[in-house]
Amino acid sequence: MLQLQNICKNFGDREILSDISLSIEKGEIVSILGPSGCGKTTLLNLILGLTDISSGKIIYDGEDLSHVPMEKRGFNIVFQDFALFPNLNAYENIVYGLRNRPNASTKEEVEELIDLLGLRKHLAQRIGELSGGQKQRVAIARTLVMKPRILLLDEPLSALDGIIKESIKERIRGIARQFQLTTLIVTHDPEEALTLSDRVLIINNGRIAQFADPQTIIREPADDFIRQFILSQLMVKRTNILKLFSDSLPHAQSTQEQKASAAPSGAFAQAVA
Ligand SMILES: Nc1ncnc2c1ncn2[C@@H]1O[C@H](COP(=O)(O)OP(=O)(O)OP(=O)(O)O)[C@@H](O)[C@H]1O
Ligand SMILES: [Mg+2]
Repeated sequence: MLQLQNICKNFGDREILSDISLSIEKGEIVSILGPSGCGKTTLLNLILGLTDISSGKIIYDGEDLSHVPMEKRGFNIVFQDFALFPNLNAYENIVYGLRNRPNASTKEEVEELIDLLGLRKHLAQRIGELSGGQKQRVAIARTLVMKPRILLLDEPLSALDGIIKESIKERIRGIARQFQLTTLIVTHDPEEALTLSDRVLIINNGRIAQFADPQTIIREPADDFIRQFILSQLMVKRTNILKLFSDSLPHAQSTQEQKASAAPSGAFAQAVA
């Protein structure tokens, strides 16, 4: 279990995160959602050990890791800007970490990940010759081959197209379940957060606005920020999609029926009312 106890982080005299306390169970998938600049990457970096906390404690399975160096924590991250090695090709990047821990994954497991992430054709390409989505997949593969105790992902799906995004979401879920791998994923996208994770951590103004399962967030949003930032975005998407489909339905369906099916209902309607 990962526990954050009263974590605060200041940069100079600016308080970026204040009083973050939560527990995440082993194998749980948690999305971290919040506006740009609210401290999501900072929170991942604190957990990873790349950035020092200003106060509070980070505890993993009862062990206080607050001041344990990054390489001894056994956590791993897919950075927002990928941080791949530009002088190495895609394959060399994927297996880079195995130089130090050759037994972390077998050759077969590496090959399986390469196929799963659709990277086989790109293995010999240099990083500068890959698209954003291809780089993102190399970064995910490089992290997964190391089988970390906790997997931290900073916007891992943002440069992926819809179909591959869904398959990678499935894969992340599968890996988390199969290996009981605790996974924290930063995202801007409420739909991604609510469909991918067991619980969603919503941060606003450096504090926890809500930390709950997706259904609770939809049915019982904790405040106006969540109604505006999360639920209204989802409602717009829902309405747009329903409208697209209802416009292409056969004429047999009455306008009344179309209106009814496109209208917000239940908790959604209440939440954005
Ligand atoms: N090393 C640093 N020194 C000073 N300020 C920093 C540092 N790193 C981040 N910040 C500030 O901390 C705040 C939170 O940054 P962070 O990168 O965690 O945001 P974020 O939620 O990940 O944003 P985004 O969604 O745009 O990636 C920002 O105001 C940023 O300017
Ligand atoms: Mg960020």
